[in-house]
Amino acid sequence: MEIAKNIHYVGVNDRNKNLFEGLWPLPNGVSYNSYLIDDEKVCLIDTVEVDFFMQFLEHLHAVIGDRKIDYLVINHMEPDHSGSISLLKKYYPDVKIIGNKKTFNMLQGFYQISDDTIDVKEGDTLDLGKHTLQFFMTPMVHWPETMMTLDTTTNVLFSGDAFGCFGALNGGVIDRDINTDEFWLEMVRYYSNIVGKYGVPVQNALKKLSKVQVDYLCSTHGPVWHKYVDKVIGIYDKLSKYETEPGLVICYGTMYGNTERMAEIIARAASEAGVKNIVMYNVSKTHHSYILRDIFRYKGLIVGAPTYNAGLYHEMEVLLSEIANKDIKNHLLGWFGSHCWASKAVSKIEDWNNTRLKFEAVGEPVDMKQGLTATTKEQCEALGRAMAEALLK
Ligand SMILES: Cc1cc2nc3c(=O)[nH]c(=O)nc-3n(C[C@H](O)[C@H](O)[C@H](O)COP(=O)(O)O)c2cc1C
Ligand SMILES: [Fe+2]
Ligand SMILES: [Fe+2]
Repeated sequence: MEIAKNIHYVGVNDRNKNLFEGLWPLPNGVSYNSYLIDDEKVCLIDTVEVDFFMQFLEHLHAVIGDRKIDYLVINHMEPDHSGSISLLKKYYPDVKIIGNKKTFNMLQGFYQISDDTIDVKEGDTLDLGKHTLQFFMTPMVHWPETMMTLDTTTNVLFSGDAFGCFGALNGGVIDRDINTDEFWLEMVRYYSNIVGKYGVPVQNALKKLSKVQVDYLCSTHGPVWHKYVDKVIGIYDKLSKYETEPGLVICYGTMYGNTERMAEIIARAASEAGVKNIVMYNVSKTHHSYILRDIFRYKGLIVGAPTYNAGLYHEMEVLLSEIANKDIKNHLLGWFGSHCWASKAVSKIEDWNNTRLKFEAVGEPVDMKQGLTATTKEQCEALGRAMAEALLK
């Protein structure tokens, strides 16, 4: 599959793995993208997960036959892309590995490889014959060593994990050849779960990229972006600035439905007060990766859970820890909870917000003892209305 003159897609699809990084569900699979530039010098950009090595090798042979690979550029050392390097070196012992100082520290640590390396710095170039590559350091998008590689001849940018997306490539590789509808929400989920913590580094990378012409955006996961380059950069720009829409995520834990009733009342009140985008999740049912995705989309969040063994219901604790880990900014938070004999859930959620989340608190928290009363119903309605007012003002 030739993307631009001499630049071939040689990636693979993983439809077997349940959880990416052992954490994030992959209902539509994922691709590990790699690209081969067939010039006077042959240059490979990133590799693939090692399980797919034999298929990867076939893809390389299909393009270059028995020719050697002169260079391997490592934009990112996470093993979903670096996993095949040791084996690649067995098949292509003369390959020179291009990376930066931090890349080589990891290359030694993970794979005990330290010879035949070429250290590049910001703006350095590499001549392949017709094509000239230029390197941009983009630390923390998604690891400290991450960099991007631009083919200045064709304006193809090899961007590593940035601009990536969950979802395997089902035949088509370039966006113009496929129906991309399924990919947009999965791009937001990928961003939120994988890159979401690194908003500032993403902004720094986008500033660098704004100075170069990009006609093809070749990420390590998901479609090659050509028709939608601007849209994709726009999505990453917006998300990394924590820009949201006026919508509300309400998520709750529940064992027997009492806390859930509170959530329903809050949602109804917010809707009556004019909030149109409301999504609701039971934290025990919906994987937190989808909830995180919607928290990145919408400004308002209301969470609620029962007290459980003198603490906070565990699945809510997991979600709050996941939200805190992403350092999300510019959000509003309301909360509620329930108990039977000694309340803990509501104060625990408050602790999470004061110490870690630091979202702007909205409304009065509601703490319900046992079942719903007229008073708790009114308090829940007041919380829903307060959030609506804050969102719509
Ligand atoms: C295993 C278990 C542990 C609980 N631990 C506590 C507790 O430590 N303190 C308390 O006040 N209530 C505790 N509760 C009671 C619940 O917080 C209370 O019944 C709440 O209304 C449950 O909400 P739900 O109907 O939404 O599941 C516990 C309930 C269960 C099932
Ligand atoms: Fe990564
Ligand atoms: Fe990756």
